[in-house]
Amino acid sequence: MPRIRIEEISEGLYLLRVDDDRVRSFEAIWDVPEGATYNAYLLKTEEKTILFDGWKRDYESEFIEALKTLTRIEDIDYIVLHHTEPDHSGTLPKVLELNGYKAKVLGHSVAGRLVNGFYGLADKMDFHAVEDGEELNVGSETLKFLHTPWLHWPDTICTYIEEERILLTGDAFGGFSMPGSIFDEGDMSEYMHYVKKYVVNVVGHYKQHITKNTEKLKGIDVRMIAPMHGIIWKNDPGRIVSFYRDIAEGRVEEGKVLIVYDSMYGFVEGAIEHIMKRLSDKKVKVFKFTDREQDSLSEILAEVPDSEAIVLGVSTYEAGAFPMMEFLARQMAHKTDYRKPVLIVSSFGWGGAAARVIEGILKETSFEMKGAVEYRGRVRDEDLRAIDGILDMLFQGGEQDTGNP
Ligand SMILES: Cc1cc2nc3c(=O)[nH]c(=O)nc-3n(C[C@H](O)[C@H](O)[C@H](O)COP(=O)(O)O)c2cc1C
Ligand SMILES: [Fe+2]
Ligand SMILES: [Fe+2]
Repeated sequence: MPRIRIEEISEGLYLLRVDDDRVRSFEAIWDVPEGATYNAYLLKTEEKTILFDGWKRDYESEFIEALKTLTRIEDIDYIVLHHTEPDHSGTLPKVLELNGYKAKVLGHSVAGRLVNGFYGLADKMDFHAVEDGEELNVGSETLKFLHTPWLHWPDTICTYIEEERILLTGDAFGGFSMPGSIFDEGDMSEYMHYVKKYVVNVVGHYKQHITKNTEKLKGIDVRMIAPMHGIIWKNDPGRIVSFYRDIAEGRVEEGKVLIVYDSMYGFVEGAIEHIMKRLSDKKVKVFKFTDREQDSLSEILAEVPDSEAIVLGVSTYEAGAFPMMEFLARQMAHKTDYRKPVLIVSSFGWGGAAARVIEGILKETSFEMKGAVEYRGRVRDEDLRAIDGILDMLFQGGEQDTGNP
């Protein structure tokens, strides 16, 4: 049985949270041994019952049971879709069926098309596309819907419960893992790491929209931020907003260097060991792919935004770059496109190719290629001298720009 939390987080507003400890690869790609939560909410006023989102379909029967502890499902008047990715909309068909399709479904116009595409609900569902800023009176409370596109999909909206000053934010301001607490309290450092990992892996490609939308939400007086993953921000909602912004803008932790390399038989590793010695006064984070260790790509990507410089060590593999490193470079280009200096070191046997492949991928991005050192087999003194020269250049940039427009 998964752990389920049903709690009244403010008068008449309930959290329904399931801790997904079965998910191994979020969206079938990002490894999350820490798990994830899906947070739905139910608001009961004297007049209306409003359900916000749902859970992944894997937990359909648990969701229905949880919901029944708070309301009769036939009594739900509105269902708000903040974002229709199936980790939140998977339970919608069952809820609507048990509700007799009486509830009005509210969301972005794109959300209507998406849930119809996923679940074929067009003929049965009473869908209303909400405008940006549209308000809905539900008795003692007023709901205001705000379009916040691309957090995480084009369909994303937030709901501001005006009288309560609570903002329901969908994926935005969420994080991975299954925190012991439902609110922001105690030591948050471990959770913040999982927030960073979530932002980069899931929303990273749309990071400009984090900046745009947080700007848009800035004017709203918010007492509590309630996202669809992880912690609810009751004590310090401003913290999660600025944390998201910092990631989106690639704010640097001074002196932090990210080193990622592969090494099949230790030849790339030779250069990396030298680099690590040279950078011993820096905060170096090292990840590797060797015959003994395979580090996590989702963890590696999470370290890009606040790194000051990046070193990639890559071996030549079948006339190209080692596959994991090529994939990493592509995802860096896709999700963590920041203006940061990069050094590449590469070893080959009979003809170098790997450095060119990685450079080719990063060339189209904001990353600044400071140089590539390629060598045959083991690293030699002249290669180390060349590497040292580039290392010096990595930290000459001073204050870094983010690469964001
Ligand atoms: C599976 C495999 C494929 C390789 N493909 C190439 C290649 O296409 N071109 C090349 O020059 N060297 C190739 N090599 C040789 C390696 O690039 C070379 O030995 C390099 O020093 C490996 O560094 P590493 O031991 O740190 O991984 C290959 C080696 C292996 C094991
Ligand atoms: Fe999503
Ligand atoms: Fe989500």
